[in-house]
Amino acid sequence: MTVLPGQAAAQDDAAAAPADPLVLAASWLPSAEDGPGPTMTLSTLGLDGYPSARTVLLSRFDGERLHFHTDSRSRKAAELAALPRAAVTLVWPEAARQLVVVGDVAPVTDAEARAAYAARTRYLQVLAWVNDHEAAADTAARRRELWAAFEHERPDTDLEPPSTWAGFALTPVRMLFWRGATDAASNRLAYERQADGSWSQESWPG
Ligand SMILES: Cc1cc2nc3c(=O)[nH]c(=O)nc-3n(C[C@H](O)[C@H](O)[C@H](O)COP(=O)(O)O)c2cc1C
Repeated sequence: MTVLPGQAAAQDDAAAAPADPLVLAASWLPSAEDGPGPTMTLSTLGLDGYPSARTVLLSRFDGERLHFHTDSRSRKAAELAALPRAAVTLVWPEAARQLVVVGDVAPVTDAEARAAYAARTRYLQVLAWVNDHEAAADTAARRRELWAAFEHERPDTDLEPPSTWAGFALTPVRMLFWRGATDAASNRLAYERQADGSWSQESWPG
């Protein structure tokens, strides 16, 4: 979507924003049926206290939580075990939108993890099996051989997730919706979950 002059300002009035940011998020994010994506920057607290960030796929938004999946041996999994809090940043430059969600992270159920694996492309399903430290240190030729060997041994189309397949879901406590415009200042809608479960809402400059 290209932002036209006047368009974003008209549709993004703070007064017209829903009181529940999950409703607004549902209008920005693909629905669960749309499959995995878009990508997002997942930020965690590194074990050394420095920020730690990387790109992951949004596996799905279930209306309450943002799901993502990874390898249980990964750095992010260790960081989330130490502190189950994270931020995700999604950006749609062509729509002049950014969404930052901060919240608490918990493992998804086994059924949710399996469903997310089944929804991944074959490439990503195989990747989850063969992506380890040993292969990473190998030459490109050797990594291609390992991939081909796996495909030869496991041609089955309904691969099971490896035991290292790990799913997490982020429950938002803060949500920040940035809206840009070509003919007006950008602005942000900032929501914060209150102790009683309701959401506060403020308008911030972009
Ligand atoms: C476009 C893109 C999508 C990615 N999606 C995922 C993903 O869904 N899950 C994942 O674990 N890693 C994904 N990665 C790889 C991560 O960015 C990261 O390199 C990897 O997970 C190791 O991160 P860590 O060492 O911080 O745990 C993706 C990378 C790119 C560039």
